[in-house]
Amino acid sequence: MKPFEKLLIENKAWAAEKIIQEPNFFNELAKEQTPDFLWIGCADSRVPAEIIVNAEPGEIFVHRNIANQVIATDFNSQSVLQYAVDVLKVKHIIVCGHYDCGGIKAALARQRSDLTLVNKWLIHIKDIYRLHQDEIEHLETQFERINRLVELNIIEQVHRLSHTAIVQNAWKHEQRPVLHGWVYGLNDGVISQLITLPPGSHVNSIYQFTDEH
Ligand code: CO
Repeated sequence: MKPFEKLLIENKAWAAEKIIQEPNFFNELAKEQTPDFLWIGCADSRVPAEIIVNAEPGEIFVHRNIANQVIATDFNSQSVLQYAVDVLKVKHIIVCGHYDCGGIKAALARQRSDLTLVNKWLIHIKDIYRLHQDEIEHLETQFERINRLVELNIIEQVHRLSHTAIVQNAWKHEQRPVLHGWVYGLNDGVISQLITLPPGSHVNSIYQFTDEH
């Protein structure tokens, strides 16, 4: 059996098992999705969103990329954000990074000249490092420096969400969503909370919108 064939066999077994447990499972799900959560996570194969929080299909709208970033010029994450907030009306947005993140480690190293696109993606994390360079460099080990930048990156991404018109409009008119920054431990499988921004949280005025020009 080829490795990919295992996935297809497992899929048939999973679908059959679901129907045994709940005969209407797929019929009900096929009608619509009404997830309460948007999850922005790292693409790392060891941090599968639904599995680590024991969620079922239909519960979480998921976007994953290298090092769980929210970048204003990235149509992918921004369109996911717009759809989740304006159409699905999610109540919570969770940015979930993880310790020992390969994207963060790479951002702390010199740029590999062959990884031209990855370099562009990670340059934003280098910027976060530079903002917090003094704090990070005071840590004793590279392990600690990586994991502190993991945390600072998650916190920065939550703030970036609050800088979007999408989130500011939803906060103003519908008092949602709550923004969360979480970090997952690869060693113990446990999630810790780093930051929570409820609707109406203060946003630095340079990120606010105005009609006065
Ligand atoms: Co990662």
